[in-house]
Amino acid sequence: MRRVAARMLEAYSTEGIPMRHQHAYSINRRTFLASVGSAAVGSLLPGGRLAYGGQRRLVLAEADADLAGSPHPRTRVWAFNGRVPGPELRFKQGDRLAIEVENRLPQETTVHWHGIRLPNAMDGVPHLTQKPIGPGETFTYAFDLPDAGTYWYHPHMMSAEQVGRGLYGALIVEERKPIRVDRDVTWVLDDWRLDDNAQVDDGFGNMMDASHAGRIGNTITINGRAPEPFTVRRGERVRLRLINAANARIFGLEFAGHEPTVIAYDGHPVDPHALGSDRIVLGPAMRIDLVIDMMGKPGERFTVTDSFYRRLTYPLVDVVYETEPLRDRPLDAPTALPPNTMPEPDLSNPLHHDVLFQGGMMSMMIEREMGGSPGMGRGMGSMMEMMRSGRVWRINGVASVGHVMKPMLTVEHGRTVVMAMTNMTAWPHPMHLHGHAFRVISRNGQPTRFREWQDTVLMLARERVEIAFVADNPGDWMFHCHILEHQAAGMMGVIRVA
Ligand code: C2O
Ligand code: CU
Repeated sequence: MRRVAARMLEAYSTEGIPMRHQHAYSINRRTFLASVGSAAVGSLLPGGRLAYGGQRRLVLAEADADLAGSPHPRTRVWAFNGRVPGPELRFKQGDRLAIEVENRLPQETTVHWHGIRLPNAMDGVPHLTQKPIGPGETFTYAFDLPDAGTYWYHPHMMSAEQVGRGLYGALIVEERKPIRVDRDVTWVLDDWRLDDNAQVDDGFGNMMDASHAGRIGNTITINGRAPEPFTVRRGERVRLRLINAANARIFGLEFAGHEPTVIAYDGHPVDPHALGSDRIVLGPAMRIDLVIDMMGKPGERFTVTDSFYRRLTYPLVDVVYETEPLRDRPLDAPTALPPNTMPEPDLSNPLHHDVLFQGGMMSMMIEREMGGSPGMGRGMGSMMEMMRSGRVWRINGVASVGHVMKPMLTVEHGRTVVMAMTNMTAWPHPMHLHGHAFRVISRNGQPTRFREWQDTVLMLARERVEIAFVADNPGDWMFHCHILEHQAAGMMGVIRVA
């Protein structure tokens, strides 16, 4: 794992965003000021935790939110129940979620319950699994929650704009018997592109974003606010649930002075492990659960840094110790989570499927470098054509339009699938499969150490990633890049389980 991780770090540092585009992505001064200079030692803790299981209704409508912090004006957003993020929904494993969604937006919408293994009709994909919810209409989602973990919800219609304007929230499914911690904290990370008046830039869907790294913003929020210092006590054990709700930004977090233990990826348990000097990398839509023993001294202050785009490293938030310690040595309690309920892939007789990703800026260079491009001898003329038509990215040669399409793969119900994915583009892509979780079994031919379960896997530029899953959930399931501008520009397919 060390070796693989070292290789990955190298790749992240050089391939996150090509250097000549980096200037476009720097974090606005206001975030730095809010994060570093805030005198108020508040706690982010209850920030997003607004509702427990009892939540029965979500209303999507315009609202105002204090995203950028004073002295900036409030930002006009689109929100669930008037807040960004929407209410944190909390359930117990095995519970049934039943929520009526009312659309008071000027656009049609749907709600997708990202990562939940639910019946196809509840998956919230417009036209494919349901009729969109029109302005003024309601739709009730109801399904069981088979697995514990950290999930989230967001619209799946015009996602780049609807999620980009603030429509998202955490969905936490607690273990029947949770591990022992002192606090269970959720940080929903987002990245906004705001103008000088702190209003959402409405240049959604432009081809510059679509063909490069997606809509990278200039203002970072945690639970919908400019990050405020996170106060802790010495000896405290915090379970930190990280959710990346950004359209496009990848986070690479370093917790100075602390050694977080990873206990889950995308909600699913993994052998608890420290990352050492590796960063905590979250592509859009990915989640990581950490256990952190806060072992600084009373009064000490540490900075959590996001260094994913190496030359654009910035301080995300400070961890500040209160004067009263809680205990003097770390809690002695297990951190391993009980397994979830996915069937184990049967690797003795899988259906093998190769998936090739192509397109985007600088694709020709990469395709040449990676040894030709099967059937894809596209010249500059056709690049221009792709940009004009908005179909910039291709999965096995096909650039999708809309959500309804011929399946890229049809699998017999119950069969194990191994997908060997090759990223023949110059960009990282967080690839998400609906309705299932998969094991990440290898990267560039090297078996992964943890064979982690995920629903969204970050593929670096030029990387080859193998995933395995049992196609145990019947229906048509989206498989797409979760950089929402890439998704809209063709990087989406359908996998049919029949
Ligand atoms: Cu979180 Cu198809 O999406
Ligand atoms: Cu992508």
